[in-house]
Amino acid sequence: MKMYRIGVIGAGARGETFARQLYAGMERATLFGICDRDADRLGKFVDYCELKGARTFTDSAEFFRQPDLDAVIITTPDFTHRDVALQAMRAGKDIYLEKPVAPTSEQCREIIRCQRETGRVAFVGFNLRAAAQSERLKDIVSSGILGQILHVEGLEQLSVAHSASFMRRFHRKRENTGGLLNHKCCHDLDRILWLIGHERRVVKVASFAGLNVFLPRKAPAKTCHECPAGIYQACPYKDTAGFVFPVHGDRPIHHQSSDIYGADLCVYNDDKSVFDNQTVILEWDHGVRGNFNVQLFQSRGCRETRIWGEKGCLQAVDGKIRTILSATGDEIDHAVASNGAGGHGGTDPKMLGRFVAALDGGDSGDSGLSQGMAVTLVAEKAERSALSGQVQAIANEEYF
Ligand SMILES: NC(=O)c1ccc[n+]([C@@H]2O[C@H](COP(=O)([O-])OP(=O)(O)OC[C@H]3O[C@@H](n4cnc5c(N)ncnc54)[C@H](O)[C@@H]3O)[C@@H](O)[C@H]2O)c1
Repeated sequence: MKMYRIGVIGAGARGETFARQLYAGMERATLFGICDRDADRLGKFVDYCELKGARTFTDSAEFFRQPDLDAVIITTPDFTHRDVALQAMRAGKDIYLEKPVAPTSEQCREIIRCQRETGRVAFVGFNLRAAAQSERLKDIVSSGILGQILHVEGLEQLSVAHSASFMRRFHRKRENTGGLLNHKCCHDLDRILWLIGHERRVVKVASFAGLNVFLPRKAPAKTCHECPAGIYQACPYKDTAGFVFPVHGDRPIHHQSSDIYGADLCVYNDDKSVFDNQTVILEWDHGVRGNFNVQLFQSRGCRETRIWGEKGCLQAVDGKIRTILSATGDEIDHAVASNGAGGHGGTDPKMLGRFVAALDGGDSGDSGLSQGMAVTLVAEKAERSALSGQVQAIANEEYF
């Protein structure tokens, strides 16, 4: 059995997870090396993650030229995904591309065109699908117990610290990510689209959204370190540790050489363009309808899913799944397997295992770019709807 030498490009919060795991050693994969364009950050990353002896590169072209590099995990920010993915595939490397595929559907199409030209494996990092609860949801929906599916509802609620993190770094700007929905809730949109079935297509999207809390007029200072002590101490958003690299330390490494790492920017800064709450309504080509809601500022993060069918409804709340049958009122609690060990509730090692399987088979299967692009297309239309106040149609050919 082939042992894959996998490299990681992007020595940040997400890169940490994969670099540590590959360095620790997996059955079929090992860490080839790390690439980051920021030498200072790369050095700190290698020290902090204790990747003693790991090969490092600051030039991505040189990294991708390495003949003994089998595949690459791309954990650079969203706005770099197209260029990095194209460069890697053109250099003959298979890729694991972190979500979202790209900030815009047009950039997704460019990545898909390149994948088709080069024939490389391109696997997308929608790890929420790999969670035990998601897999159970898919089984229940596919079993037909709910009859004809009519409506699906999703909610993502973010904790205070997690909410704050989206107002600071690169993801505070729509042009860098496509917006909060594409950047963060692409996991939820992907799960909804996957549950309904990617062979069906969303044809209409409407959305309402706004920036209602993180308003620039509330900013006491530009950065946390310039904030008056009394205000800083009382601010619920002062500590972003846990959502920037290093993930496992007490303090993030704040003052990076690159301008996109404004980790201690005041959350109320005026240099951002994302919404801080959003509601979306969807309609599929076979008449299923749905809605999705993202809410920040809460004591804890959670996800909820509800699905209504002709024969009953399903509720997935707090890790539990219950169906209620229409004819009898019977309530069925569905056991959910426990998630394995590892990052993101055990989904990170699972996804790496699936990537290795994709490399073995030469095909990304259901975790490929087309599904990832459908998610970005829906998020993009939602953003457009929220900004224009108009319902957005999606033509069949836009799916590519
Ligand atoms: N699947 C998940 O659950 C999950 C979770 C977190 C982040 N992500 C995704 O991972 C990606 C990275 O997010 P993050 O929070 O780790 O970002 P980050 O800012 O912490 O790290 C990104 C790193 O990429 C480097 N970089 C930027 N441009 C580069 C280039 N052209 N070449 C080489 N290096 C470059 C930066 O110097 C930085 O070190 C994003 O796309 C994000 O959406 C996914």
